[in-house]
Amino acid sequence: MALFLHVAQATPLHATLIYVVYGIYAVSMSKSKGNDPDYTTVKVSKDTQAKLASLGKYGETMDQIVQRLTTQARGLEDVVAGKSSVCFIDGREGRLLYRGYDIADLAAHSSYEETTYLLWNGHLPTTIELKAFSEELASKRPIPREVVSILTTLPQNCDTMDALRVGVSALGVFDDPMYTQQEKAESIASKIGTVVAAIHRHKHDQDIIAPREDLSFASNFLYMITGKVPSEADSHLMDVLLILHADHEFNASTFTARVIASTLSDIYSAVTGAVGALKGPLHGGANEKVVEMTSEIGSPQKVDAYVKAKLASKAKINGFGHRVYKTMDPRARILKDMAERFVRTEKEKQSLEIIERTEAILLKEKNLYPNVDLFSGLTFTHIGVPSYLFTPVFAVGRSPGWLAHVLEQYSDNRIIRPIADYVGPQLTPYVPIEKRATSGVGR
Ligand SMILES: CC(C)(COP(=O)(O)OP(=O)(O)OC[C@H]1O[C@@H](n2cnc3c(N)ncnc32)[C@H](O)[C@@H]1OP(=O)(O)O)[C@@H](O)C(=O)NCCC(=O)NCCS
Repeated sequence: MALFLHVAQATPLHATLIYVVYGIYAVSMSKSKGNDPDYTTVKVSKDTQAKLASLGKYGETMDQIVQRLTTQARGLEDVVAGKSSVCFIDGREGRLLYRGYDIADLAAHSSYEETTYLLWNGHLPTTIELKAFSEELASKRPIPREVVSILTTLPQNCDTMDALRVGVSALGVFDDPMYTQQEKAESIASKIGTVVAAIHRHKHDQDIIAPREDLSFASNFLYMITGKVPSEADSHLMDVLLILHADHEFNASTFTARVIASTLSDIYSAVTGAVGALKGPLHGGANEKVVEMTSEIGSPQKVDAYVKAKLASKAKINGFGHRVYKTMDPRARILKDMAERFVRTEKEKQSLEIIERTEAILLKEKNLYPNVDLFSGLTFTHIGVPSYLFTPVFAVGRSPGWLAHVLEQYSDNRIIRPIADYVGPQLTPYVPIEKRATSGVGR
């Protein structure tokens, strides 16, 4: 009975899931309980049973699956919050697919432009399609001068993610009002790099560099930051970083963007909200902290003592752990391989050694695996991106994914509005203020 009460209160998606789970549970229990009136038999199809099985974790019994799926999960862990065909993560195997394509293949063979096309269209482009799409994106790189004015009036020492949030929000006011939804997506994905570069240049009182159409997205982005056209090797590293960050299913910032889009608010608001969510250190800020940690540790010999002290104080070590991956994040594996090949200076070699030593200890002591942020800071630093720009650059890389999800949400929308598991008091009598002798009456 209690379970049916939950079903009545839950969102349709959750309700369906609970109903299915309960049905299978009831079927299984009715077999063992015979004609016990406390149990109801609900028939479910083989498809539904397979779906339920796919939601089970390794070694879980049917009872445990039912228990887990019908209990409020802290932080919505393992809750299926909607359908999507953009991105698939297998957390147990450590696999990440964009529209069915393995991230390792995309990192090895694709480009930012091609991956963006894939995320938005669901298939890889032909040569002609890719050329037209890349030119369209490149033509939308310049940002309105009003946005430049706003960015250059911000305090030079302000948080770069705060500045990015302002910049993306301002684009929503000054971008071409005649743009279609698709054109708005192209505009945001193209201009967000220009906004980040402008924030950086303003921070150092340097002239803002206008984007060039003849360079790839990755080359032009580095060019606008550093003022120099990057080497092919650096441009390639930036391209791979952008591809690796391009999407990650229902992560916090993408889910934020989808919730905003689901109210039928505009696409700029959705991306502004996503930037706000990404700013949090549990989501976007970890790679900057890894770089800080590496220099704080100082040498590979000091890693053991540092990690031990952190674990003893129950502190989290940045760049490790993940809500979905229970093994090594495939993006971390790709970045680690790349780092092992590009490190050149003594400082880089030492940083990598510190990171890898930390990795070995955390695996042994806590069974904790690296996430994408463990090695990305090292790569960003190698190509000349300062640490205060790591999260904004992450946002630039993630924007094609945010936009793919927002477009997907608009294409089959229902407002996202879950319910709370209310744990407060019920029907408390109202006490007039003059009768409240003590503080907290009726609290
Ligand atoms: C990513 C993260 C937020 C996931 O959080 P989560 O799914 O809520 O996981 P929890 O915080 O509940 O952690 C589960 C357990 O692993 C431990 N753990 C997780 N990540 C850890 C880390 N980085 N260092 C030390 N212990 C960690 C927790 O202390 C907890 O242990 P306990 O059960 O003994 O208390 C978390 O792993 C974290 O804070 N990592 C560091 C920040 C980071 O690298 N973020 C980038 C993510 S891509």
